[in-house]
Amino acid sequence: MRLFLVFLSIFFIFNLSGCTTYEKVMDSTIRKYHVTDDRIKLKLPPQMKLAQKEMMRTQMDLLARIAEAFSEDNLKEVERISRERLGWSSIEEKKWSSVAELCGESDFFEFAMVVHRHADELASNARAGDVSKALKSFAGLIENCNACHKRFRH
Ligand code: HEC
Repeated sequence: MRLFLVFLSIFFIFNLSGCTTYEKVMDSTIRKYHVTDDRIKLKLPPQMKLAQKEMMRTQMDLLARIAEAFSEDNLKEVERISRERLGWSSIEEKKWSSVAELCGESDFFEFAMVVHRHADELASNARAGDVSKALKSFAGLIENCNACHKRFRH
C-alpha cells in the first residue's frame, strides 16, 4: 500500500510539473510571437489547397537537394535543379496565373514569379562558378518563399 502511494505521488508530481512546463512554454511562445493571423486567406477549394501543400513540400525537398549539392561543391547539380525544377517557364507562368485568378489575388502571381526568377539567377551564378553569388541567390530565393507565406495562408 505504501509503495502504491509512493508511485501515485510520483505520478502526480510528474504530471503537475509537465503541466506547468507546458504552460510556461505556451506563455513564452505567445509573448514572443503574434497570436493573431492577419494574413490573406486564399479562397481555394480544399483539394487545391492539398495539392498546393504537396507541391510546396516538394519545393522544400528541392531546396535541401540544392544545399546538399553546394556542400559537395557540385555546382552543376545546383544549376540543374534550380533551372529545371525551380526556374521560371511558360508552364509556371500558366500555373501561377490560373491559381492567382482562381483565388482572386493578383499579388499571388508576383510572389511566385520572384521566387522562380531567383532560381534562374541561382542557376546562372552556379553556371558561372561563383559560389558566393550563387549562395546569395539561394538565400534570396528562400526569403522570397517566406515573403509569400507572410502574406497568404490557406
Ligand atoms: C505565391 C505564394 C507562395 C510561394 C512563392 C511559396 N509558398 Fe509555400 N505556401 C504558400 C501557402 C499559401 C501555403 C499554405 C500556408 C497555410 O497552410 O496556411 C504554403 C505552405 C508551404 C509549406 C507547408 C506545407 C504543408 O505541408 O503544410 C511549405 C513547406 C512551403 N510552403 C514551402 C515553400 C517553399 C520551399 C517555397 C519556395 C521555393 C514556397 N513555399 C513558396 C504559398 C507560397
